[in-house]
Amino acid sequence: MAPPSDRNGRRRRRALLLPLPYHGHVNPMLRLAAALHARGLAVTVVHAETRVPDRRSLPAGCELVTVPDGIPPELAASNDIPSFVFALNRNCAAPFRDLLAAALREDDDGRRVACVVVADVDWFAPLTAARELGVPALALMTSSAARFRVYMAYRRLSEMGYLPVQESNMDKPVDELPPLLVRDLHARMDTARHVAYADLLDHIVAGVRQSSGLILNTFDAIERADVEHIRRDTSIPVFPVGPLHAISPVAAPQQSGALPEEDRSCLAWLDTQLPGSVLFVSFGTLVSIDADELMELAWGLAGSNRPFLWVVRPRLVRGRDSVELPGELLQEIRGRGVIVRWVPQEEVLSHPAIGAFVTHCGWNSTLESISKGVPIICKPCGSDQLGTARYVCDMWKVGVRVEIKDKVTREGIQVAIERLMDGKEGEMVRDRIIEMSDVVSKCTMKGGSSELAMNDLVDFIESS
Ligand code: UDX
Repeated sequence: MAPPSDRNGRRRRRALLLPLPYHGHVNPMLRLAAALHARGLAVTVVHAETRVPDRRSLPAGCELVTVPDGIPPELAASNDIPSFVFALNRNCAAPFRDLLAAALREDDDGRRVACVVVADVDWFAPLTAARELGVPALALMTSSAARFRVYMAYRRLSEMGYLPVQESNMDKPVDELPPLLVRDLHARMDTARHVAYADLLDHIVAGVRQSSGLILNTFDAIERADVEHIRRDTSIPVFPVGPLHAISPVAAPQQSGALPEEDRSCLAWLDTQLPGSVLFVSFGTLVSIDADELMELAWGLAGSNRPFLWVVRPRLVRGRDSVELPGELLQEIRGRGVIVRWVPQEEVLSHPAIGAFVTHCGWNSTLESISKGVPIICKPCGSDQLGTARYVCDMWKVGVRVEIKDKVTREGIQVAIERLMDGKEGEMVRDRIIEMSDVVSKCTMKGGSSELAMNDLVDFIESS
């Protein structure tokens, strides 16, 4: 890490950015890296050795260093996120402290190199290390402000008996967090997992409360009340600078070996389809569904009689590396359904042929869909996706939900598609999401709320 200076030899403050090593977290952190670098900061991305991104996909001018994490590959590949996150925090604390101390010492003429740390809220140990070394440290929440409010309330909601979610209280409104119902707080989980998760959230929230500030990948126009609430509750500066993919439209990072090769041939196929006719179906990078659910989804898409582009990535089906669809189904969708392993999602959502996005409501996918003006069909699978689907359908009214009684059915999928693609409700949703996409353009352009929040953030970093 060379001491940074600008073209005139003036020292630049160095920001050390620590993404949680999952694509849905790395992507927004690298967009933030690009935005900070474009505003004159020197940027080092500090990544765990697990799933290091391809250096070539880093924003220009940003450097990458890795810290040893000692995480067994089986844990890194598992869905046990709390154990992974705790191990990451535990194992990287000392190496990160050494790295930061070295970065501070690097100046030969006796001056400390001015640094700031920005860590994913889940990677809280570096926030402590930075504080101990007298370095300002900010946290980045890559999901919604509403989800961070759930984090802050989780312990209290557990004590009040809302959590863990029970069959009997699922449809109860959470009075403290409207418009959420208890079922939107989390998927049902056993007591041991609930305890581990609550413990993790305690650490995350404590880390943020003791940090110098919180950066949110959201924007005022959709989550103003939630952002204000966090500001009041934490009493730290809060910067709603999102959507980061729209603030910094650089290529999405590729994590080496973790994701399949991008299939760009689907873009040529989209060129052959009518405007607004194609359903795009993708469930992000992490969730897995069971084989029955996959088949219901497949037959629901087939039964819609519409063209569709479906991302079936490896391990989408729980416990399986790849998926084989039955010949009868492939026959039914021939020429109309395109199945791929990975697409350039932002480009796909920008394509005029896309009429709706069937998504798990991961926060990045939701923001990308809103900013491209693509109406949403929500099929959340767990965690923040449940609350995001509630906001999409009931608050922002930019999508419809796949109704699920006991389990997902092909009929449920078809009904949601028809509601959105035909009739009055679909028209209203389409109008509404176009309005929201205009709002995104306004808030990210010069003088917009997110651009101003980004400037405030840079001023804050420069002056701290
Ligand atoms: C995870 C969690 O599952 C999600 O709930 C949380 O909000 C963020 O972290 P993930 O499942 O990966 O995220 O979903 P999402 O946040 O939607 O991010 C997926 C990203 O992968 C998007 O940026 C999307 O553009 C990209 N993607 C996905 C592709 O580029 N190509 C694809 O084929 C599929």
